[in-house]
Amino acid sequence: MTNDLKAQIGLINNRLSELSYGENPNELYEPIRYIMSLGGKRLRPVLVLLAYRLFKDDPESILDQALAVEVFHNFTLMHDDIMDEAPLRRGKPTVHEKWNSSTAILSGDVMLVKAYDLLLDAPTDLKAIITAFNACAAGVCEGQQFDMNFETLNTVSEADYIHMIKLKTAVLLGFSLKLGAMLAGADEQACEKLYDFGVHIGIGFQLKDDLLDVYADQEKFGKQVGGDIIANKKTFLLLKALELSNDEQKSELENWISATEFNSDEKVREVTRVYDEMGIRQLTLDKMNEYFNKGFEALNDIPVEEGKKRPLISFAEYLIDRDK
Ligand code: IPE
Ligand code: IPE
Ligand code: MG
Ligand code: MG
Ligand code: MG
Repeated sequence: MTNDLKAQIGLINNRLSELSYGENPNELYEPIRYIMSLGGKRLRPVLVLLAYRLFKDDPESILDQALAVEVFHNFTLMHDDIMDEAPLRRGKPTVHEKWNSSTAILSGDVMLVKAYDLLLDAPTDLKAIITAFNACAAGVCEGQQFDMNFETLNTVSEADYIHMIKLKTAVLLGFSLKLGAMLAGADEQACEKLYDFGVHIGIGFQLKDDLLDVYADQEKFGKQVGGDIIANKKTFLLLKALELSNDEQKSELENWISATEFNSDEKVREVTRVYDEMGIRQLTLDKMNEYFNKGFEALNDIPVEEGKKRPLISFAEYLIDRDK
């Protein structure tokens, strides 16, 4: 990671540490302080700052709006972990495990409110910003519902999968960049190109997330490795494996998918073995690179000095190489 990127993350984390969410009742606010303090890569607020800096030099002035997207993101994680029955997040128990689902629902709800609160003092065009944020937030919910629907479908096409991850993950990266540009008063065309850049790298980012869910080092990853296999998530890995398998591999995969009682470790090990046999890891990396490259093309089209785009390019390279 470049020093410039570290500096942006530092700005975000400093401001985050000053943020207060509320006090009473403690049961509502404590889980928020908990999830926000567990770290995380802070990618989305950094994207807000990097997009802003294409046009203006004072990112300190928009930190609250940058934090809005991080608080929103953490709200979606708190609810996502209930839906995915995930035990671990950022190396620690998830909120619904440490407390319970009702707590995770309600603390998540008030985080969404906090996200709006942080947007309110935007220096420009509040109505346009809220409109764009609302479109993004509704999109995330749509994507999350498709993700849940797909768990019980036998087949999902690649196009349907890409559409689902575009909604659940990529539109928020797109919005973060567009927000930075809007806050800097950039013209509409630049805002839209940055949005396209974000959506494309966001799709690449979720492909890498799917890959890490199977192949990451548990310690570094901080989430349960194999969680997607256990839950029959229609990840890119699973749908490619189903599509390209021979009869034997297909029936192995289908047996694990339909099993109602199984040993989780064994299921993860066996499905991973089929992926390995089929070279699914490389296929996923190829698809990921394809989307990052589409992102770089969109970035190319933005009429600002090439040197100014360097931090965004470094950032995307860091996302490609990440191991958590
Ligand atoms: C996890 O996002 C959720 C996805 C959209 C894949 P991140 O990988 O950005 O999670 P943190 O914030 O760094 O923990
Ligand atoms: C999450 O996708 C997308 C959102 C949180 C909206 P995942 O379910 O793959 O994210 P992780 O892997 O739990 O972080
Ligand atoms: Mg999840
Ligand atoms: Mg999920
Ligand atoms: Mg995941």
